[in-house]
Amino acid sequence: MSNDIGIDLGTTSVIVAVEGKGIILNEPSVVAVDHRHDDKVLAVGSEAFAMVGRTPSYISAERPLKDGVISNHVLTKKMIQQFVNRVYDSRMIKPRVAVCVPAAITGIESDAVVEAVVSAGARQVFLIDEPIAAALGSGIDITQPMGHMVIDLGGGTTDIAIISLGGKVQASSIAVAGNLIDEEIVKHVRQQFQLVIGLRTAEELKKAVACCPQKKFSKTMEIKGRSLITNLPQRQLVKTEDLYEPVMKCVEQIGTAAHQVLERTPPELSGDIYSEGVVLTGGSALLEGLSEYFSEKLKVRVRVADDPVHCVAIGTAKSLTIGDRLETGFYDATPRAGKR
Ligand SMILES: Nc1ncnc2c1ncn2[C@@H]1O[C@H](COP(=O)(O)OP(=O)(O)OP(=O)(O)O)[C@@H](O)[C@H]1O
Ligand SMILES: [Mg+2]
Repeated sequence: MSNDIGIDLGTTSVIVAVEGKGIILNEPSVVAVDHRHDDKVLAVGSEAFAMVGRTPSYISAERPLKDGVISNHVLTKKMIQQFVNRVYDSRMIKPRVAVCVPAAITGIESDAVVEAVVSAGARQVFLIDEPIAAALGSGIDITQPMGHMVIDLGGGTTDIAIISLGGKVQASSIAVAGNLIDEEIVKHVRQQFQLVIGLRTAEELKKAVACCPQKKFSKTMEIKGRSLITNLPQRQLVKTEDLYEPVMKCVEQIGTAAHQVLERTPPELSGDIYSEGVVLTGGSALLEGLSEYFSEKLKVRVRVADDPVHCVAIGTAKSLTIGDRLETGFYDATPRAGKR
């Protein structure tokens, strides 16, 4: 079996897949550094994640990717190297590695990613766009002359694309996704209940009780935070309806962006999308009621991919086997081969 690997370098998590084997690593994209010792890396992934919000001042747990771009090159590089070293056994033949990078990445940022992967032992490095990888990973045969629409809702960005014949026909990437929903929930809970909560609590609320109003869904969850009035810890029961406002503030923006992409789509492909429907991928595709919202907004069938969280990593690994049939959004970035 080949030891080629696909890496989904996400804002929230880094997921590594091997074609035919599935997911072999899934870790939060967090790095813990010690500022007393030249920003020495103390931990990466889940170990670093456990430190978020709980470190003394000289240690910080950082997300080197933010809003779909690389905000810290050095840490991103160290994080990639550690993850690749965990899955790559140096006794094996050097692997070919495909990396799914955020759509808004610059040349310098992608150079840093390539360098990290090469220094971790790759013999060849390919870069792939997120929507192409998401479409491949959701099982769509994108090499056919048939239009498909994919909306990948991640943590930092939502990528919307119309794909046909192995290439993107229309695309849009906006920095509105799961993380922004969490931030809006924090703000809303503060206003509505005079309660200060952290992003982790907001995310738990989103996963457990949030829903788009198009779906009949009603749950409650008890959260703990700090009262703005007494400054002391306080419990609060939050209902699905309480979260409509912050959730829809973000979801409506994604809906509008998807609508605009469809408006720009050539008629033949619009017809294909009308019959094929739209596929949702990415962790935020798991938000309750999202497919109902999009089908009402876009007037087409919408389905959530079978394994939305892993689609991009699985598609990235798969791209290594069909790369020659991909027209855009996939290229050989190995330093000696030069870039296309
Ligand atoms: N059940 C759920 N309901 C709602 N949101 C969820 C659920 N499970 C995960 N998420 C959200 O999915 C997001 C992470 O998705 P994903 O792993 O696809 O992001 P990423 O690929 O790291 O980010 P990006 O593609 O933007 O770089 C987080 O915001 C997380 O809160
Ligand atoms: Mg992603």
